[in-house]
Amino acid sequence: MLKGKKIVLGITGSIAAYKSCLIIRQLIKKGAEVQVVITPAGKEFITPITLSALTCKPVISEFFSQRDGTWHSHVNLGLWADAMLIAPATASTIGKMANGIADNMLITTYLSMKAPVFIAPAMDLDMYAHPSTQKNLQTLQSYGNHVIEPGTGFLASKLEGKGRMEEPENIVAALEAFFAKQCDLEGECILITAGPTYEKIDPVRFIGNYSSGKMGFALAEECARRGADVTLVCGPVSAAMQTEHPNIHRINVESAQQMYEVCKERFPSMTSAVLCAAVADYAPEAVAMEKMKRTADDLVIRLKPNPDIAAALGKMKQAGQKLVGFALETNNEESNAQSKLKKKNFDFIVLNSLKNKGAGFQTDTNQITIITPQGKTEYALKPKTEVAKDIIDRLVQQG
Ligand code: PMT
Repeated sequence: MLKGKKIVLGITGSIAAYKSCLIIRQLIKKGAEVQVVITPAGKEFITPITLSALTCKPVISEFFSQRDGTWHSHVNLGLWADAMLIAPATASTIGKMANGIADNMLITTYLSMKAPVFIAPAMDLDMYAHPSTQKNLQTLQSYGNHVIEPGTGFLASKLEGKGRMEEPENIVAALEAFFAKQCDLEGECILITAGPTYEKIDPVRFIGNYSSGKMGFALAEECARRGADVTLVCGPVSAAMQTEHPNIHRINVESAQQMYEVCKERFPSMTSAVLCAAVADYAPEAVAMEKMKRTADDLVIRLKPNPDIAAALGKMKQAGQKLVGFALETNNEESNAQSKLKKKNFDFIVLNSLKNKGAGFQTDTNQITIITPQGKTEYALKPKTEVAKDIIDRLVQQG
């Protein structure tokens, strides 16, 4: 899992700095490439010569090389790395990271880092237990950083041992587990529907809804990032909505009928489908060829039912295939979602309610409840990217 991975190892001024040699040895043994960035205090505990001998790379500590004035680019390091590990991380460095105090090369590298960041705190128990350290660690976690709790591998439930840096093998195992999880969809083909559908009334008007596609796109990126081959069937969304991962094959459609045709054709070759699109249940029975003109009379547009894509895929579903649906509700949320779960033969359904602030259409956040035939799990309001992770974690757990 670590083969070929590029790791920036940040070392700070703690007695546990000597253990970073063991971390480097294990990372390199597993095929990773390691670039050390050390704080001035870190150098009091371990020499750059030892570290550069182990990594076969010059150690970075200052913004400029003393010898030739070369500029060390923290931005490039941030782009180069697959992960940044700060081990040991002192209370001081944790505080600076949480508050953006960029007074050394390690903190500027952290602030420029595009890759996931892992932090292995190391300090005495009182410093670790102090509310300010705990608050800073919580802040860092809320920024999406991974804190490798001291003592999790051996003394998790006891306070004794807390504060002491986690053992090098457990730190490396945490990184390995992270990268393993990243590829847990390798070999899977996943169909995702996203966005609204437009049902034409005439050449200038349609029946539509407020779906932006954000939730569906977040699901597509999450699946592709974890190794799946993704087919994203996408209703009309804004031009700003672009996919990033090369394993996402996007098929644009406009109407529910078009989305149905594509999904029906693709589903047999998929391992799973996640139906996030807000599909219009009805479409005008007849589409006017020319723009309809205003008259003095009431206008009545007769609607016909659209195909129910989810129900059709639910009928087609073979053993081993998984089907996940969404339910966007405004009232009787759980009972409506339960009945859709059964009627459409979903493995589970993701309920979101417009009653919850920050949930549903257009927002960058969502608040969901996952309902399975066995029970339900409620989740907090989170960015849609994080919500996508929760949904895909559940899909993976379904086996
Ligand atoms: O796109 P965003 O702005 O980010 O908003 C996200 C979202 C609110 C659209 C999304 O989270 C969501 O809830 N999508 C489903 C909305 C919806 O249409 O729910 P529904 O309860 O009407 O449909 C139930 C399920 O059947 C859904 O999986 C839907 O995709 C599917 N369906 C519905 C009708 C139909 N004709 N065919 C279908 O496949």
